[in-house]
Amino acid sequence: KKLEDGLLSSSGISSEELKEAAGFDVNENESSVSITVVGASGDLAKKKIFPALFALYYEGCLPKHFTVFGYARSKMTDAELRDMVSKTLTCRIDQRENCGEKMDQFLKRCFYHSGQYDSQEHFAALDKKLKEHEGGRVSNRLFYLSIPPNIFIDAVKCASSSASAASGWTRVIVEKPFGRDSESSAALTKALKQYLTEDQIFRIDHYLGKELVENLSVLRFSNLIFEPLWSRQYIRNVQLIFSEDFGTEGRGGYFDNYGIIRDIMQNHLLQILALFAMETPVSLDAEDIRNEKVKVLRSMRTLRLEDVVIGQYKSHTRGGVTHPGYTDDKTVPKDSVTPTFAAAALFIDNARWDGVPFLMKAGKALHNRRAEIRVQFRHVPGNLYNRNIGTDLDQATNELVIRVQPDEAIYLKINNKVPGLGMRLDRSNLNLLYSTRYSKEIPDAYERLLLDAIEGERRLFIRSDELDAAWSLFTPVLKELEEKRTIPEYYPYGSRGPVGAHYLAARYKVRWG
Ligand code: NDP
Ligand code: BG6
Repeated sequence: KKLEDGLLSSSGISSEELKEAAGFDVNENESSVSITVVGASGDLAKKKIFPALFALYYEGCLPKHFTVFGYARSKMTDAELRDMVSKTLTCRIDQRENCGEKMDQFLKRCFYHSGQYDSQEHFAALDKKLKEHEGGRVSNRLFYLSIPPNIFIDAVKCASSSASAASGWTRVIVEKPFGRDSESSAALTKALKQYLTEDQIFRIDHYLGKELVENLSVLRFSNLIFEPLWSRQYIRNVQLIFSEDFGTEGRGGYFDNYGIIRDIMQNHLLQILALFAMETPVSLDAEDIRNEKVKVLRSMRTLRLEDVVIGQYKSHTRGGVTHPGYTDDKTVPKDSVTPTFAAAALFIDNARWDGVPFLMKAGKALHNRRAEIRVQFRHVPGNLYNRNIGTDLDQATNELVIRVQPDEAIYLKINNKVPGLGMRLDRSNLNLLYSTRYSKEIPDAYERLLLDAIEGERRLFIRSDELDAAWSLFTPVLKELEEKRTIPEYYPYGSRGPVGAHYLAARYKVRWG
């Protein structure tokens, strides 16, 4: 104060400028955001969370006063955490020219605290460090639980009781799996709610953060040509396809307890389905959108065993290279019947979608990597050009494909006249390929979701009633598969998956796209 008074009278500079020059904060009321990555030593933190935080920093999306803390049991210094983060940087920014410089600035804001997940004392020590960094500003705290599910509750209990924000908000991002069935999911929700309110819980499904999934509502609700067609009247079937060209290597321990239905279908594909099929929400508010998603999930028919096909990949040698089978993984029991592939036919029993099959297919160790939504339309009634199309009418219907990844694109298959004399028809694509239309790189899903959590935007996070509805569709069939120890159909690593998936689709007059 003395310094301020003395200098102000002689120099004429403002009180604010003076404080800044002397290292004071200009506005003590400005808030701070501390992001604690719980399980910072793990795979997801290295692969996705730190790179996404860095990308947000690079793009200027993080608040002015932010700090990132890594928390895990492993012993690490701040310098070691920084080294780890810089070495595992795999974000879209890492090719940019000034990435190194920005990275150094970002790393200066990263710190590490070693502690147990069930220790109030260790979280209290973290709280002390967080306070030092917050410097008396309003504190907002985000905890990202990037740890195995069996320790979620311990960590939430300790974080909420010993390291909650004193003045601002406290939010917790919870990674999947949210239980393994209706009962365990309900128990997890109940336990979380002992320490947090629903508003503080951000259940992440990273597929909701993918650009083309975000675009789904825009495509549908802001283009007059689509919404009127979006019903049983014009749509014959909808396919939701997920495939990966690698196996569960390295994650076999986790995967064997869950299987592909829980890992991909019950969450990622079902979330896309809900967004695809919901009624028009009242507004773009999180609650309005989530209300519509719950409604559509609750209108769905519980999945039946006869509408499911399961598979498991086996070892396959191609071009002299042997790819291991699922059970060759040392962390997987030799006699495991856990599905690494599944196809299912789902139905929405409401006026819009009555009788339209929604077919899902998800698999590991298949011939390609892709995630797509395929919408197959009905035949043109009394089509004048049937003769020119030939006998395969299925081949001649329109199809809208939303390719979520890779090579993000939206394309519409239409019938077109082959140029020249005569009248021959051909199927062509009206194609919106993102890489040619937009020069800007697409942000990683985790960037969008982390930013939303910091900003308190809940639209892309799963509400507990959505979760209940999602589990109730799949729980009976999962139980039945497990009780009967249903043997999966084996398919070679790198193949197109079990042939049973084609029979299932054929039963509903569908051909996979
Ligand atoms: P990890 O197995 O790498 O675990 C993260 C950290 O948790 C580890 O570094 C370890 O840290 C600690 N940890 C691991 N096992 C135990 C244990 N039994 N008891 C106490 N602490 C343990 O997990 P991921 O990083 O792969 O995943 C984190 C969460 O995100 C999980 O819920 C997972 O299901 C989910 N997820 C992961 C994805 C991925 O691609 N990896 C994708 C989608 C979701 P330390 O020993 O230092 O305490
Ligand atoms: C995770 C699953 O949720 O999503 C993994 O647990 C899967 O098994 C991953 O590999 C796929 O995510 P992405 O973004 O790579 O398609």
